[in-house]
Amino acid sequence: MSAFFITGTGTDIGKTYVTSNLVRHLRTEGRSVLALKPVASGFQEGTIAGSDTEALLDAMDLPHAMADRISPWRFAAPLSPDMAASREGRTISFEQLVAWCRDTVHAHDGVTLIEGVGGVMVPLNDRHTVRDWMAGLGLPAILVAGTYLGTLSHTLTAIETLERARLHIAVVVLNESAESPTAATETAASLRHFTGAPISIVRRHAPRDDFAQLAALALL
Ligand SMILES: Nc1ncnc2c1ncn2[C@@H]1O[C@H](COP(=O)(O)OP(=O)(O)O)[C@@H](O)[C@H]1O
Ligand SMILES: [Mg+2]
Repeated sequence: MSAFFITGTGTDIGKTYVTSNLVRHLRTEGRSVLALKPVASGFQEGTIAGSDTEALLDAMDLPHAMADRISPWRFAAPLSPDMAASREGRTISFEQLVAWCRDTVHAHDGVTLIEGVGGVMVPLNDRHTVRDWMAGLGLPAILVAGTYLGTLSHTLTAIETLERARLHIAVVVLNESAESPTAATETAASLRHFTGAPISIVRRHAPRDDFAQLAALALL
């Protein structure tokens, strides 16, 4: 039994892309993988089309009817979880969220990948952020970052923020952005001057090899 928390420097950075491809890669190796997206916003009730939940269920080859099982906290508004919940007169119970994740990880005899929501400091409610959720679970983090202009500061800020909460970063994933001013290797080289965390590059429309390397670096 092992588990990782997939977070990012922000939204739309590639967390679901990386998680679903890691699921596919690990499954080809005969591993039992469970991927969770416990808190999902922008979720239209009645359909899971286009959602992260759908992408993860598809990667696991599980029926869409199992959406409740991997995404218990679903909200319609495509906003941060605190705002999306508030639109519906709801509040995310931090304690219930952490307990549900912990129980689900313990019940699974294999690797569990938990995709967070947005970036590391997105509020879940009035008192807790994604970082608190990660600290509550204490799982190693997979931090997904980009290679766009501006990523160096965003990535180092996210690393500092995680380290301040004593979270272990298993790997930083440099997921190649649609527009990059330099080669990803150059971004990686610059980051290496400031962090000892392993860095793995995932190319655009990445071949399976990129995920094999990522899994090996993260000791997944
Ligand atoms: N390496 C990549 N190559 C091609 N498309 C990518 C890559 N990474 C992300 N994308 C695409 O970018 C969009 C945002 O990625 P996604 O994984 O949904 O981000 P997040 O989960 O962090 O919000 C999706 O359409 C996804 O398919
Ligand atoms: Mg996502």
